[in-house]
Amino acid sequence: MKKVQIEGGRRLEGKVEIGGFKNSAVALIPATILAGDKCLIDNLPDISDVDKLSQILINNGARIKRIGLKKLEIDTTDIEKCYADYDMAKDMRASYYLLGAGLGRFKKAKVIFPGGCHIGTRPIDQHIKGFEALGAKVSIEHGIISVEAEKLVGTDIYLDVVTVGATINIMLAATMAEGTTTIENAAKEPHIVDVANFLNCMGADVKGAGTDTIKINGVDKLRGCEHSVIPDQIEAGTYMIAAAATKGAVTITNIIPKHLEAITAKLKEMGVKITENGDSLRVEVKKPIKNINIKTLVYPGFPTDLQQPMTSLLSIAAGTGTVTETIFESRFKHVGELKRMGASIKVEGRIAVIQGVEKLSGSKVEATDLRAGAALLVAGLIAEGTTEIENAEYIERGYSCYIEKLIKIGAKITEV
Ligand code: EPU
Repeated sequence: MKKVQIEGGRRLEGKVEIGGFKNSAVALIPATILAGDKCLIDNLPDISDVDKLSQILINNGARIKRIGLKKLEIDTTDIEKCYADYDMAKDMRASYYLLGAGLGRFKKAKVIFPGGCHIGTRPIDQHIKGFEALGAKVSIEHGIISVEAEKLVGTDIYLDVVTVGATINIMLAATMAEGTTTIENAAKEPHIVDVANFLNCMGADVKGAGTDTIKINGVDKLRGCEHSVIPDQIEAGTYMIAAAATKGAVTITNIIPKHLEAITAKLKEMGVKITENGDSLRVEVKKPIKNINIKTLVYPGFPTDLQQPMTSLLSIAAGTGTVTETIFESRFKHVGELKRMGASIKVEGRIAVIQGVEKLSGSKVEATDLRAGAALLVAGLIAEGTTEIENAEYIERGYSCYIEKLIKIGAKITEV
C-alpha cells in the first residue's frame, strides 16, 4: 500500500504539462493487436494501467520496446491468441478491449470478467449484445468471458445506453467484419474519435466517430502505423480544479481546450478566471468562489470522472451546491473521507448536497478508487495541516508523475 502526505494550504502557481489520455491509451494498446504489425504510439501517459496492458500483450506474444518516456513500439505480428486471466487483469477495466481486438483479428478471445474502480455495478451487456449481433458466441464461465465466431458480419447495433466501452469494443471487433456495421446511440467522447483515427490510420474504414452514429465498413486487413494519444482532459480538469481550490494561478499546457468546455464553464460559473491561449489555458482565482450545481452527463456534458475532485472544490465554496451523478450509481465513496476532513456534505441517492465550509483540516484518509484519490489530493492541498492518503496506488492508475507535477507548482507532497 502506498501512502502520500500533503502539507496543505499552499497556493499552486506555475505551469503543468498534461500527458496523453489514460482512457484513450488503454484502448489504443489492445487495438494494436488488430494490426498484426508494428505500431508506434506516442504521448502515452506514464501510468500503471499502461504498464499492465503492455504486460498482457507481451504475455500473448507481442514485442514491446519503450522509446523514451512516452513512446512504445508495439509489434503484434507474433501474437497468436488474446487471453488475460485473473492474475493478469483482475483490477483493470480496460482488459475488456482485448475481447473486441481478439474477436476482430482471431475471431476469438478469452478475458477475465473486467474489474476496475468500484463505482457501480458496471455491466457489460452492451458489449456482449454488440459482439453477438456481429455473429459471435459469448459465454461466461468461471469468471472468464469467451467470445468466438466463425465469421463476423456487419449489422446495425443500437446501444440501449450510451457507453464508451461498448462503442469502442464494437468498433474494434467490426473493423474486419464482412460488410458494414452501424452503431447507433454511440458515445461521443474525444477518445472515441482518437481510437477511430488510429483504426483508420491502420487501414480501417470508420466514419462518424464523435457523432451518435458510427459506420464501420469492414476491410480485409489492417497494418501498423504511428499515432499520438490525445491529451488527457480528466488530468487537465483535475489540475484546473486543484489550481482553483488553492486560489492559485496555474497554466495548463498541452491540452485541447474544446474537450474541457464543460469544466471551464462550471469553473467560470463559480467565479474562477480562465483564459484560453491556443493549446493551453490559465486558471486564476481573483475573487471568492461560490457554490454551484453540477450534473454528470455523457460528453459533451460534465464528465463523471471529474465529479469527485470537483466535490472537494465545492466543499470550500461559499453557499450551497449539489452534485448529481447520473452515470455510475456509487461514485460517492470519497464523500465520507471529505467529511472526515470537515466538509459538510449530505448524500441522498445520486445527489450530494454540499454546504461550503470555511476550511478543511488535514486528516488520515483512504482513496477507494482513482478519482476518489484525486478528490482527496485536491482536499489535502486546501486543508490546514497534514493529510495522509492511504491506497495512493489508485492515483497512479490515472495521473502520471503527479507528485513531481504538484511539487513543481508549489505543493508540499511526498510519498511516505
Ligand atoms: N453500461 C451498461 N452496459 C454496458 C456498458 C456500460 O449499462 O454494457 C453503463 C454503465 O454501468 C454506466 C454507463 O453505461 O452506467 C457508462 O459506462 P461506460 O461503458 O461509458 O463506462 P466504462 O467503459 O465502464 C469508461 C472509463 C471510465 C469512465 C467512463 C465514462 C475506461 C477504462 N474507463 O468506463 O473511467 O468513467 O468510461 O466516461 O476507459 C476513470 O477514468 O476513473 C474511469 C472510471
